[in-house]
Amino acid sequence: MLFKQQALLRQKLFVLGSLAIGSLLYLVARVGSLDRLQPLCPIDGRFGLRDQDEIPLRALQFKRGLLHEFRKGNATKEQIQLQNLVQQLPKAIIIGVRKGGTRALLEMLNLHPAVVKASQEIHFFDNDENYAKGIEWYRKKMPFSYPHQITIEKSPAYFITEEVPERIYKMNSSIKLLIIVREPTTRAISDYTQVLEGKERKNKTYYKFEKLAIDPNTCEVNTKYKAVRTSIYTKHLERWLKYFPIEQFHIVDGDRLITEPLPELQLVEKFLNLPPRISQYNLYFNATRGFYCLRFNIVFNKCLAGSKGRIHPEVDTSVITKLRKFFHPFNQKFYQITGRTFNWP
Ligand code: A3P
Repeated sequence: MLFKQQALLRQKLFVLGSLAIGSLLYLVARVGSLDRLQPLCPIDGRFGLRDQDEIPLRALQFKRGLLHEFRKGNATKEQIQLQNLVQQLPKAIIIGVRKGGTRALLEMLNLHPAVVKASQEIHFFDNDENYAKGIEWYRKKMPFSYPHQITIEKSPAYFITEEVPERIYKMNSSIKLLIIVREPTTRAISDYTQVLEGKERKNKTYYKFEKLAIDPNTCEVNTKYKAVRTSIYTKHLERWLKYFPIEQFHIVDGDRLITEPLPELQLVEKFLNLPPRISQYNLYFNATRGFYCLRFNIVFNKCLAGSKGRIHPEVDTSVITKLRKFFHPFNQKFYQITGRTFNWP
């Protein structure tokens, strides 16, 4: 009898202990997983964060779950007003370049407590149908944020679409524009790989890269091939410069963002007039992925989706050489215009 009672007591103690540990772990996870737990400090001039605008910690504690509810459309108007949350037009846009590392850049900038990302590519300025819906439609696509925070969106098609610079200029002529580039031939192959994967998923066949990149009649680089055209960065940038001065652009080295992301992110923080808040702690190398992943805090970390960092098909070296030679003069011009030199061959 006594033995039975002792066993029952032990069982009860075990259950209570488990509950206590469970609750403790839950609390650690809740507090630990708060976005932007790092204390905020005043952000100078441009984005207008003043001392008195600091977010109380309690508000931060709410933020993660609440923003999630807002995105799902479950929050009441009162809740939104109470939290002083707003949907703001972007103060900076990652306009391209496709396959340059636009997603990695956006996600990494989102580590900053004063940055809120638009998760989806909105395609407002490059898609006539969306553009016709008006600027309010665009604003409503933006995530909720605190007034002192800045919203950033990325739609890489903006960089190469004719109408976009004028449209963005009409929205905000002083907007900050981010362009992330990679060595042009590598970018073109990455672009091809993405399309190839899409075809394979649909069980379709596709041409080899060599066949698309080289014109079989002239044996020269096929400038009609979109993946090649997109990599002629200077041509696209020149169109943008008809509307915006070069000071409004910041060029990110996409190849360096892969191998050494922090210094690249620090340059962007500076360009955006944000206090330096992204640190080495926020970025850790994941050997399995072969890429840096993101650490928000002790509990919450993530790597980019598997569609980022695909294995490229092998490409004939003579084609690579031809492409590199082709891009060379355009690259020189790009360095000259942007004032940023890359070690591209
Ligand atoms: P690959 O798939 O060719 O390797 P985008 O987001 O503009 O489509 O760019 C995709 C590219 O981002 C990938 O191209 C990958 O190399 C690069 N990239 C940069 N940093 C990365 C990271 N931390 N994780 C995964 N991919 C990253």
